[in-house]
Amino acid sequence: MENSSKSNIMPTYGDRDLVFSKGKGCYLYTHTGQKYLDFAGGIAVNSLGHCHPKLVNVLKKQSEILWHSSNLYKNKNQELFAKELCKKTFADKVFFTNSGAEAIECGLKVVKSYWNLKDKRKKNIITFKGAFHGRTFAALSAQKNKKYSEGFTPLLQGFKNIIFNDLIELDKSINSETAAILIEPIQGEGGIRPASLNFLKHIREVCDKNDILFFLDEVQSGFGRSGKLYAYEWAKIKPDILATAKGIGSGFPLGACLATNEACKGMVKGKHGSTYGGNPLAVAVGREVLKIISEKKFLKNVDSISRYFWNKLKKLQKNHNEIIDIRGAGLLLGIKTRKNNVMIADLLKNQKLLSVPAADNVIRLAPPLIIAKNHVDKAIKILDKTFNKLK
Ligand SMILES: Cc1ncc(COP(=O)(O)O)c(C=O)c1O
Repeated sequence: MENSSKSNIMPTYGDRDLVFSKGKGCYLYTHTGQKYLDFAGGIAVNSLGHCHPKLVNVLKKQSEILWHSSNLYKNKNQELFAKELCKKTFADKVFFTNSGAEAIECGLKVVKSYWNLKDKRKKNIITFKGAFHGRTFAALSAQKNKKYSEGFTPLLQGFKNIIFNDLIELDKSINSETAAILIEPIQGEGGIRPASLNFLKHIREVCDKNDILFFLDEVQSGFGRSGKLYAYEWAKIKPDILATAKGIGSGFPLGACLATNEACKGMVKGKHGSTYGGNPLAVAVGREVLKIISEKKFLKNVDSISRYFWNKLKKLQKNHNEIIDIRGAGLLLGIKTRKNNVMIADLLKNQKLLSVPAADNVIRLAPPLIIAKNHVDKAIKILDKTFNKLK
């Protein structure tokens, strides 16, 4: 047990008693060999599970060639990775970061710099209640959630936080000062709440009609988690800016801000930078993750296993009154329960199944994208047993 009074770690994460010393595939192991089925996935990060042999291989190889040279110099693999990402998405340009919050920061600077060139009156960004965009000041200001921002005022100005999935409220909130709309296609921390495809389509229309930038936060929903490379593809729309992280590195710290040529017009020399962003080690891993996810059957498998999982969860709901709702998309799923979600996540952990609580009393399940039916069956068995105990 890590004692916060003795530990030299700032106590922001609270006490943590579980220690993992090894990870392989969909499992994590303690030093005594206790095996946990990892449906937390490092909070939707370990897209290819733990220590995927191909990722270990590229990381080892790169570590013997070059770790870091900084962004003072051209990095050929960074250029190639950006090209590959642009080829598979709406984007023309990429800025590499080390985390999701940094990708959001970059996207907000893309917005600001664009309107600074084109129309200085456009200074408000619309965001949504329940959103989570990270822990930096800009992210705290954007999401306007007291749970995260208490004690950190004053926050940045220029964010208007409105009801999620509400077309009428959105239409009412638009005016000549609206610079951008920032939304997660599936709210993760907010309780696994998907935006309706209709809502996403409507945002695109509103943005086109009113000269507004459409900024998607796909830090949690992206990189295959929804069954598509990015969740926006389900709505058959394209954003102008997108933040990605988590699954892109499958555990190696990496993120990126993607944008169209038009949207990032203002991001000229000197406007932004990062010492580590897109460093050779991160890029080597990211390129390999993209390569694997792009293999012919990969996303099809994610889609079919997630449907299998969804149907099993729906069946579970029928058998347990404590389950109010099953929600989410792809392998970003949530169980909304009547009982306390943190307590249930602890019970699941005792049964060697890892999950992550989310807001709105939801138990979040974000397993590696490589899970098979046997992993789902095992998780369902543990969930069933745990909910039975609650009766
Ligand atoms: C949707 C979303 N955006 C941004 C972030 C921030 O990412 P990071 O913790 O890597 O800074 C998160 C993290 O959970 C997230 O879920």
